[in-house]
Amino acid sequence: MTEVMEPTLTPDSSAGDATWWRQAAVYQIYPRAFADADGDGIGDLPGITAHVPYLRELGVDAVWLSPFYPSALADGGYDVDDYRDVDPRLGTLDDFDALVAALHDAGIKLIVDLVPNHTSDRHVWFQEALRSPKGSPARDRYIFRDGKGPDGAEPPADWQSVFGGPAWEPVGDGQWYMHHFATEQPDLNWKNPEVRADFLHTLRFWSDRGVDGFRVDVAHGLAKDLGEELPSQAELDATPRDGNHPLWDRDDVHDIYAEWRTVFDSYDPPRTAVAEAWVAADRRARYASAHGLGQAFNFDLLEADFDAGQFREIITFNLELAETSGSSTTWVFSNHDVVRHATRYGLPPRGTGAAGGDHTAEKQGKRWLLSGGTEPVLQRELGLRRARAATLLELALPGSSYLYQGEELGLHEVADIPDESRQDPTFFRSPGIEIGRDGCRVPLPWTREGASFGFGAGPADLPQPDWFGDLAVEVQEQDPASTLALYRRALALRRELQTDETMEWHDTGRDDVLAFRRPNGWLSVTNFGDDVVDLPAGEVLLTSAPLDGGHLPGATTAWLRV
Ligand code: NOJ
Repeated sequence: MTEVMEPTLTPDSSAGDATWWRQAAVYQIYPRAFADADGDGIGDLPGITAHVPYLRELGVDAVWLSPFYPSALADGGYDVDDYRDVDPRLGTLDDFDALVAALHDAGIKLIVDLVPNHTSDRHVWFQEALRSPKGSPARDRYIFRDGKGPDGAEPPADWQSVFGGPAWEPVGDGQWYMHHFATEQPDLNWKNPEVRADFLHTLRFWSDRGVDGFRVDVAHGLAKDLGEELPSQAELDATPRDGNHPLWDRDDVHDIYAEWRTVFDSYDPPRTAVAEAWVAADRRARYASAHGLGQAFNFDLLEADFDAGQFREIITFNLELAETSGSSTTWVFSNHDVVRHATRYGLPPRGTGAAGGDHTAEKQGKRWLLSGGTEPVLQRELGLRRARAATLLELALPGSSYLYQGEELGLHEVADIPDESRQDPTFFRSPGIEIGRDGCRVPLPWTREGASFGFGAGPADLPQPDWFGDLAVEVQEQDPASTLALYRRALALRRELQTDETMEWHDTGRDDVLAFRRPNGWLSVTNFGDDVVDLPAGEVLLTSAPLDGGHLPGATTAWLRV
């Protein structure tokens, strides 16, 4: 593991107030697919730094950077070899400092991804555990158990991993280790004091380098309570997730975050955190507590159909919920784990039984939305039109909005990646039944032409489809009706119009049209249906699609000043 190094610069992240995150527009960068400065086919930190002007022009308040740590990429970097270093393929710690400085100079905050539930199997701790005997302190940092049967040749339990396949792996001496995700991602034992101390060290390491906050991976999985006698998978499935489940969403996980909070609050302004916790909505507020991580992802809109009733219920519920924790809510339509929303909205609604419509897979509390093939039922234009309307609605809501790289280009999922190019472990562990998450991780197109459409000098590590060229940044910058132009305008207006965290529903007299008003006369109206409808009186500021003779067509949002 890298020793603590003095930061090479004194980043000024104390600029701004302590509540900057409450209504921030946060742009997620999946670094390997953003921009490749050195032409090796993999995006890198200098590639991001070179595009800070793009981010500034886009108008985002913060960047969330997915893992950039040394990793074998068994799970896209969520298998971390060293929490306090940069993957040499992505750059160096100096490159990281340069990125922080460039972002801060542009007035953009930086949130980094922290992966505390598991390390990679190449982490020095795990390598030491493999070399060390049963019962050793090195094995105690992970979750080892004896196998069943005379030689321990049978797994200690029949648990299935979130990615498919068994959750226990033998190490050759009768013992097995537990992994919620891929075999290369052994789960840490958070009862071990050394594990706890080391993560406090990591939080300080990045905070000292100027990082403004952390996105906490699998935040509901760290605390586990396992005796020697393990329950079966069926017993686990039957156990309620009420805070006492042996594996998920345990109440005592919050003791860990209370410790982290002391680190966050030792900085000025306090470092922030957002929990990735797939828990029942009524348990989310615990993660968002000011005594813990402070904010938690709300994936409810991401899981909803493009439907006025569903949106209204979710928005009302989450705004009330955020109030109970004193946090602000978070809106998300797309990220690196799910089918892009332009594509989801072009597929039949869930549960219709139509081919391709069942794109939700629910497994062990982790829900991945998987397309399972998007042709020929995908209605590309309709999907994008709805996505633009949904995003405009999202950006008018109180709370933070998390945007995923490429959605500002209106990118669709790339469904037809050849099997031999696929990288996601869910594809290999299912095996091949689920196409996995590579389709939303294809490197971005910056230019119409070029080996990788301007992503880098050579071909991209994950193949890009031909249609990416027409959606390149360079192309969309020339087109005032492009999705990029819409995002830029919306984010700029949002900065101007954003006020306190309140809104009220405005009666539209129709079930398929939702309108809400912010305190300063900012009114957002979305027509989820097909009919052309009247707009309320007011000045039209922005629309997600052209109006029809001054009226609001289907699958369109308008922002008005009233
Ligand atoms: C959630 C991350 O978003 C996902 O990409 C990853 O595979 C799992 N956690 C395991 O780290």
